[in-house]
Amino acid sequence: MTVLLSVKDLSKRYDGRWVFKDLTFKVSRGERLAVIGPNGSGKTTLVRMLSLLETPTGGEIYLDGESLLEAPEKWAVRRKMAVVFKRPAVLNTTVYGNIALGLKVRGEKKDSIHEKVEWALKEFNLRHLEDRNARALSGGEKQLLSIARALVLEPLLLLLDEPTSNLDPENAALVEDVIKNTGSTVIITSPTESAARIADRTIYMAGKHR
Ligand SMILES: Nc1ncnc2c1ncn2[C@@H]1O[C@H](COP(=O)(O)OP(=O)(O)OP(=O)(O)O)[C@@H](O)[C@H]1O
Ligand SMILES: [Mg+2]
Repeated sequence: MTVLLSVKDLSKRYDGRWVFKDLTFKVSRGERLAVIGPNGSGKTTLVRMLSLLETPTGGEIYLDGESLLEAPEKWAVRRKMAVVFKRPAVLNTTVYGNIALGLKVRGEKKDSIHEKVEWALKEFNLRHLEDRNARALSGGEKQLLSIARALVLEPLLLLLDEPTSNLDPENAALVEDVIKNTGSTVIITSPTESAARIADRTIYMAGKHR
């Protein structure tokens, strides 16, 4: 299988403290990788660096054969990915509008946007919320929305930071099922072994107390 993501000697230091040092791993196209580690081990920091929200202290990241950190048009590389955070930020518009926006930005046709948003509303049990303002949703509902919003983009790389942390068991199972069946390459984090259940391979981040 071909390599989609290559992380080489990646390091991050905050205020003189290393979160991690010389992290090296590769992810194959279509693979699902779980990143497991205790609180504070650097899972979110890693996801933020992979999605270009945080600058590494050192190291290299290659996505789809291109250097992420040296890409001349960062937004173009960034669009190959979709990210879901534990406490996602949602836009001040309807649930429907939130799911549709990324597709609009990518220049999809109206009919295709409608079809994909309808799929997501059904797939993620969001139908009854479609006209509600996303800001007024519960934490779990927002998390579900943000997963739906990411999945409709059919990204090359899907980054999921504890995507089921706020979900009830039924919705968590539903999301795990969708993740297992997506065509995207996936990196999923969790502080417990739960992410390993749906992954092909697992890497462990060591906590400071270990
Ligand atoms: N902006 C920042 N400034 C200083 N230190 C930070 C910053 N962001 C994260 N850290 C530190 O980096 C370490 C890793 O944090 P991170 O959020 O990546 O951990 P995590 O594995 O995602 O934890 P959790 O399971 O609680 O989500 C922590 O010790 C944290 O305090
Ligand atoms: Mg975290």
